[in-house]
Amino acid sequence: MMDVHSPGKSVDGDGRQAVVAAARAALGDAIAQFIDQCMQRPQPASHLIAVLHKVQAQHGYLSAEHLDAVAQLMQVPAAKVAGVASFYHFFRLQPRGKYSVNVCMGTACYVKGAERVAQRIMDELGVGWGETSKDGVFTLEGSRCLGTCGLAPVVMIGDEVHANVTPEQVPRILEKYIRAAREATV
Ligand code: FES
Repeated sequence: MMDVHSPGKSVDGDGRQAVVAAARAALGDAIAQFIDQCMQRPQPASHLIAVLHKVQAQHGYLSAEHLDAVAQLMQVPAAKVAGVASFYHFFRLQPRGKYSVNVCMGTACYVKGAERVAQRIMDELGVGWGETSKDGVFTLEGSRCLGTCGLAPVVMIGDEVHANVTPEQVPRILEKYIRAAREATV
C-alpha cells in the first residue's frame, strides 16, 4: 500500500507529486477529476461522502488503498476518511463475493424462521451481515420483502430464489454454488 497516511504532513516537490500521482492512479481519472472539482468549492471536505460513493460505484468497494488515496487528494486525515467509510452501512469495505446471498427478513419470512436460516448461513460461511466469505464466493445480505411471501422463508442466491428454506437445508443449498464457483476457476 502506498504511504499516504499523513496527508497533512508536508511532502515537498517530487515526493508530493509522486504521492498525488499514486493516489490519482489508485482512484482513476474520473474520480480524481471529481475530487479536483470538489476542492475548488467551499468546504471541500463536506463532499467526502459523495466522493466515497463514486469510488464505490466505480470499484465495487472501498479498499484501504482507495481510502488513503481519497485522504491524500482531499487533504483530509486518513482516520477521518476511514471513520466515515466504516460508519455508514452503505459503504462496503470488502469486495463482493461471486454470489450475493440475500436472506429476506420481511415479516412473513421472519415469522417463518428467517432469523434461524440467516444464523445457519452465518455459521456455515463464517460471515456477518454485509460480509464476504473468505473464499470470495458469497456476500451475505438481508432485505425487506422480496415479493414472494407465499414461499417464506425465502433466500435468494444470485438470481435464484430458494423457497421454504430451513436451517437444515442451508449446507446443501450453499454447496451447489461452492461447486459452481470451483468449476468456474478450473
Ligand atoms: S416477507 Fe419475505 S418474501 Fe415477503
